[in-house]
Amino acid sequence: MYLILLGPPGTGKGTQAKIAADRLGLAHVASGDLFRENVRQGTELGKQAKAYMDKGDLVPDEVTIGMLLDRIAHPNAQAGVLFDGFPRTLQQAEALGRALEAEGKSVDLALHVTANDEEIVRRLTGRWICKNCGQIYHEQTRPPTQPGVCDACGGELYQRDDDKPEVVRERLRLQRPPEALLEFYRSQGKLAEVDGQQEVEAVTRDLLAAIERGTGT
Ligand code: AP5
Ligand code: MG
Ligand code: ZN
Repeated sequence: MYLILLGPPGTGKGTQAKIAADRLGLAHVASGDLFRENVRQGTELGKQAKAYMDKGDLVPDEVTIGMLLDRIAHPNAQAGVLFDGFPRTLQQAEALGRALEAEGKSVDLALHVTANDEEIVRRLTGRWICKNCGQIYHEQTRPPTQPGVCDACGGELYQRDDDKPEVVRERLRLQRPPEALLEFYRSQGKLAEVDGQQEVEAVTRDLLAAIERGTGT
């Protein structure tokens, strides 16, 4: 099964992807996480990507598509993938479609998770992430038991550079899913809307229900 989580920055894609990928036995493939890993390791790709990420802009398609196609060729992606934050442009969606088609596979469903801007800003400016395992926290809505320490693994928590209010504003201006991308999946009967404004558990419930309806699993 190949599922996609689409939506503006900060609507809860990563939070939901971790839960849903676990439940459904899919690999969680997050383009933003792959970029940050490259930045940490100082790769050429990481250097290219960082310049765009720091401005709150999309990384160019040539760079992004190559990285993602490499990732889905990995053995642990063969049983199915939950994509988080990819594709974000029509070109990325078309490239993914062609790559899957070449293996006799296809995207089953794209889930569009939304929330209003005020809530998004509140979520991103209070977000803390575990350096070690990637667990996502929020200082008000999902605080760790001990500030700065991951409940799951004891790792150190950090705030993303691009969660500063001025970068968040640019991300919201530049990175909403374009209508052409939504229409690409809608026209194939493969787009489901999920209200991401609710609390985490309610979003998970609606997301899993939409997957059940959309894929029959
Ligand atoms: P990426 O890492 O994908 O960032 P993003 O799209 O901006 O999304 P976020 O990860 O910020 O938010 P999220 O929706 O995952 O929310 P989360 O669950 O963490 O991309 C980073 C950068 O990489 C981009 O800016 C771009 O430059 C580049 N990039 C990535 N993919 C690309 C692509 N395909 N093409 C080109 N460039 C690309 O939740 C946020 C916070 O809210 C957390 O604190 C969480 O605890 C809290 N929260 C979550 N759900 C709820 C809820 N229901 N109620 C209350 N709080 C909640
Ligand atoms: Mg994320
Ligand atoms: Zn951790």
